[in-house]
Amino acid sequence: MHHTTATGIASPNIAFIKYWGNRDEALRLPANGSISMNLAGLHTRTQVTFDPALRADSLLLNQVEQSGPALERVSRFLDQVRRMAGSQNRARIVSENNFPTGAGIASSAAAFAALSLAASAAAGLQLSEPELSRLARLGSGSAARSVPGGFVEWQPGSGDVDSYAFSIAAPGYWDLVDCIAIVEAGHKPVGSTQGHALAGTSPLQAARVADSARRLEACRRAILERNFADFAAIVEEDSNLMHAVMMTSHPALFYWSPASLLVMKTVREWREDQIPVCYTLDAGPNVHVLTLTDHAPQVVQALEDLPGVAQVLTAAPGGPAQLAHA
Ligand code: DP6
Repeated sequence: MHHTTATGIASPNIAFIKYWGNRDEALRLPANGSISMNLAGLHTRTQVTFDPALRADSLLLNQVEQSGPALERVSRFLDQVRRMAGSQNRARIVSENNFPTGAGIASSAAAFAALSLAASAAAGLQLSEPELSRLARLGSGSAARSVPGGFVEWQPGSGDVDSYAFSIAAPGYWDLVDCIAIVEAGHKPVGSTQGHALAGTSPLQAARVADSARRLEACRRAILERNFADFAAIVEEDSNLMHAVMMTSHPALFYWSPASLLVMKTVREWREDQIPVCYTLDAGPNVHVLTLTDHAPQVVQALEDLPGVAQVLTAAPGGPAQLAHA
């Protein structure tokens, strides 16, 4: 057998209704469903080459050869692909992000979505979109949502087979823009994988999960009706709920920096002044400020003027993960 190669491209996504906590850590079956939007223009491009001559998997990420936990996580993921394909071959993985490294938006979602497409194709597997989303989920939960395009919902499912994500609206359905306020981060936050494992130690997590069907319904409806006011209310509520769980887990996780809080408070003032704008934060200090196309230039300018905001990136709704041809 000769070597076989394929390249996958995927965007990160921003969650409007958050995934936080697993009912099964190994299979990454989430405690609750989630909804997100892919981020156009930002992407990870990953080439996988299976080669019988290789003695071990290797990973070159943004020109830097990886070892330790990053390589082990990817290698365990490839074991899954090898099991599915009935292959023993080791792989060379070369991956690049086009977004600034060190800006705190290093994304396991884009990484494992791109890797799922590339590795399955290179191994000769022909997987459907739900199968690719399930595979990506095993690498990183949020990666399940970077497989389909546009606005996406990840259903928690009853088990491995039906826990995958699907599009609820195409990228062009609503002209939302994510203005990502990159905040000067003081310290490296606790990674999401460790964070998920702590979710159940917060007394607030059970209430957050029990109420998730209501929030999913409200968010899905606001997107489908393109109702920004309803969207803003549920997105901020859901982000605040997740951060309340983080702050009350044992040990407590505080992802906000002073600049994050300044952005959040300012966004609320802008909304009172009738600007369609709202915020959401993942497991880090950067603030994703959502608005509509017509207001994006003004929002970006105003964010850049806030103290503690180092840079603002913008992204419209993005397409699905894809194989690169040639
Ligand atoms: C706060 O998908 O990064 O961004 O499955 O351990 O890789 P792992 O976690 P990950 O968790 C994402 C958490 C979040 C919310 C979200 O994207 O839904």
